[in-house]
Amino acid sequence: MANNQSIDPRTERLRTLRAETQLGGGADKIAAHHAKGRLTARERIELLLDKGSFREIDAFVTNRPAAGPQPARPTLTDGVVTGWGTIDGRLVYVYSQDFTVMGGSLGQAHAAKIVKVQDMALKNGAPIIGINDSGGARIQEGMLSLVGYADIFLRNTMASGVVPQLSAIMGPCAGGAVYSPALTDFIFMVKNTSHMFVTGPDVVRAVTHEDVSFEELGGALVHNTESGVAHVAAESEGDCLFLMRMLLGYLPSNNMEEPPFVPSKDDPLRTDAVLDSIVPDNPNKPYDMKAIIHSVVDDGRLFEIHEHFATNIIVGFARLGGHSIGIVANQPQVLAGVLDIKASEKAARFVRFCDCFNIPIITFEDVPGFMPGVSQEHGGIIRAGAKLLYAYCEATVPKINVITRKAYGGAYCVMSPRATRGDLVLAWPSAELAVMGPDGAVNIIYKREIAAASDPAARKAELVQQYKDDFANPYVAAAYGHIDDIIEPSETRPRLINALEMLQNKRDTNPPKKHGNIPL
Ligand code: HXC
Repeated sequence: MANNQSIDPRTERLRTLRAETQLGGGADKIAAHHAKGRLTARERIELLLDKGSFREIDAFVTNRPAAGPQPARPTLTDGVVTGWGTIDGRLVYVYSQDFTVMGGSLGQAHAAKIVKVQDMALKNGAPIIGINDSGGARIQEGMLSLVGYADIFLRNTMASGVVPQLSAIMGPCAGGAVYSPALTDFIFMVKNTSHMFVTGPDVVRAVTHEDVSFEELGGALVHNTESGVAHVAAESEGDCLFLMRMLLGYLPSNNMEEPPFVPSKDDPLRTDAVLDSIVPDNPNKPYDMKAIIHSVVDDGRLFEIHEHFATNIIVGFARLGGHSIGIVANQPQVLAGVLDIKASEKAARFVRFCDCFNIPIITFEDVPGFMPGVSQEHGGIIRAGAKLLYAYCEATVPKINVITRKAYGGAYCVMSPRATRGDLVLAWPSAELAVMGPDGAVNIIYKREIAAASDPAARKAELVQQYKDDFANPYVAAAYGHIDDIIEPSETRPRLINALEMLQNKRDTNPPKKHGNIPL
């Protein structure tokens, strides 16, 4: 009977060896890893991908000869698990470093495995997700491990703008190793267990005499709030992997595809009367731009990128009438929504991502201008603002702008007006388009008249009102056609969905060139 037949010894050997490949650095190392509240490389992949979809390759790869102390036995998998699977039924490639094998350190074979899946992702047009948990360059393999990093960096760069690249940091990621995630589109970090830095606390202490902990120097919070290196801060590893799945739902698999269309039960003709009075009468009073976004998009869902960084601007993904969109929005609630260095860079990078991957951009604008100050000027606000300007000008995806209130000065020109190839500009009745705010403008152009008046304050108030009537409204711009329509705020959602559908077959190009020279 078939059941009693002995197993072919060759199959038996395969099974034994395969079982060994699944053990990583062994039960003890896995237990120690779990004790730190961290999942193994394989557990992470299981959570990330659709159940049962993972197909591993190169499990039998072993470490290559190296100088110095050798591992007791060949390191099966060589400390990284690689392959492909699906997320919501769509193909993705993945690599996940296994800290239980030589601290997830990167030797030649380890690097070659990552390179192989990078090449496959690029050739087959699917996203690649890297889960980083590594002690960095494998010291025993010397400069050959550095060559391995350079091989990976090259592929990160070649894949940029062709397939989405996502990085999760789930442990240490230090030294030059940080540059692979840094070259990818989005970095997800986990609070308290992931760290990124070029030089660690010990070196910092020795060189600059600054005493700083791992978390303070390169933890999830610092990179999500201060440096902007990371884009998402997750509460746990499970949360992180779930958020990565969610993000991919908004993205096409490659730059030749349209983003996935996901119909929603949310009525495309839905209006919201609350929006009609959300902008305060007093132009200096703040309001929450996120409330507007939540009201307008499908099911109120916004997937924020850089949620904790440069919060004077909001960027993220959402859907409108089932279409995936990128949102860029000034936030009047933080620093009056002013554009500073960090906000400009945050938004510029996001606009370029959307443009790479055929995702229309909706801009909600309420911007009083650029941030004044010595630190901003000396820090390069000119260069940073130019990045955002460049990104919007260069973008050929549909660009729709809703001006809710202020569109002042140079910031007006930066935030996707019609003149920089904006496709449609809609304004709310509360919109004010001007070179500057009424107060500043009156102070400059009527300086002598105000000084000579019998009651300067009263005369100034009159002039401010006159300026508001003349300039600080949407009708002058609409008269010139720089605004395509003035809409009632409550009808923003149906108007935007209609505009997106109108622009569905938009075709636009840039002049032939090797590449532009964005002011970096
Ligand atoms: C070889 C390494 C290793 C490495 C860790 N291990 N890092 N083996 N090369 N880079 C091994 C350890 O020897 C140990 O082996 C196991 O991994 C776990 O390490 P532990 O130190 O016990 O773990 P932990 O206490 O959690 O500390 C983790 C760590 C620390 C903070 C990452 O190991 C560390 O500081 N490692 C060195 C980091 C480093 O300097 N890397 C080079 C950076 S420069 P056993 O056998 O005991 O289990 C770099 C350049 C990249 O990466 C350049 C790209 C251009």
